[in-house]
Amino acid sequence: MHATDPRQEYDLASAAAERLRAEGFGGAVAAVQTGSGIPVPALEGARRIEWSDVPGMPRATAPGHRGAFVFGTCRGAPTLVIEGRLHVYEGHAPGAVIRPVRVAGLLGVRRLVLTNATGGVRQDLRAGDLLRVTDHVNLSGCDALTGPHDPRWGDRFVVLAGRTYDARLAATADRAAAALGIPLATGVYGGVHGPTFETPAQVRAFRSMGIDVVGMSTVPEVTAAAQLGMRTLVLSLVANPAGVVADGKTAESEVLEEGHRSGARVTSVVEGVLGAIAQGEDR
Ligand code: HPA
Repeated sequence: MHATDPRQEYDLASAAAERLRAEGFGGAVAAVQTGSGIPVPALEGARRIEWSDVPGMPRATAPGHRGAFVFGTCRGAPTLVIEGRLHVYEGHAPGAVIRPVRVAGLLGVRRLVLTNATGGVRQDLRAGDLLRVTDHVNLSGCDALTGPHDPRWGDRFVVLAGRTYDARLAATADRAAAALGIPLATGVYGGVHGPTFETPAQVRAFRSMGIDVVGMSTVPEVTAAAQLGMRTLVLSLVANPAGVVADGKTAESEVLEEGHRSGARVTSVVEGVLGAIAQGEDR
């Protein structure tokens, strides 16, 4: 674990934000962070900076996650794409995991759209289904805001109830999916530590807890965004029945393949949401 002193986090994120602002990456109406194998939205006039060229940014190591900021216009909406995601299971300190979102917050971005690949816990969910996350259960054993408090980020005791999974962005996403004819389920995301997949007993336990999909990301980012007062939308792609992959496949190949097969539908909903924001339909 490359733990950073949480009091240094503000300086690291500020250095990254300053660099991005100098490159003209400020002024986005939304930041979009994409999950495993899920394509990024199509941007006009896209400019890209690798995290390795941005001071203060950590290195991404997980499969399907590269680590770059891309700025451009999607359906008329100035958009900051956060390509790649860090996970606590990689050994990253929670502060590093949430740093890209905090950089977006310091750039003044007020909306965060997250996509992710999940295991389906609810029994009617199938690989390839899309789900809008309405709430989460943090089962990861870790809170991204652990450590000395830096009030520059916001409150120490962040209240999530009613302040994340924004209702207006949710309605915008539901309309965008309906306009595209893409069924969008709703449900509760169970955030686990990983990287080990769940046992059948764990999946049964999750079901009894009211969890619909399970994944190894997102909860830290949503928490950081809530602390910054950003409005959040989370869209999950069901990649596999929770904890289970087909014989002869690795979990990694199964999840990435489903991302490549079905991720474009997730991205088209995200693009529809960005277009609606540009049209002033999400206020
Ligand atoms: N479990 C946990 N995380 C996941 C899964 C799963 O089955 N599929 C994709 N991410």
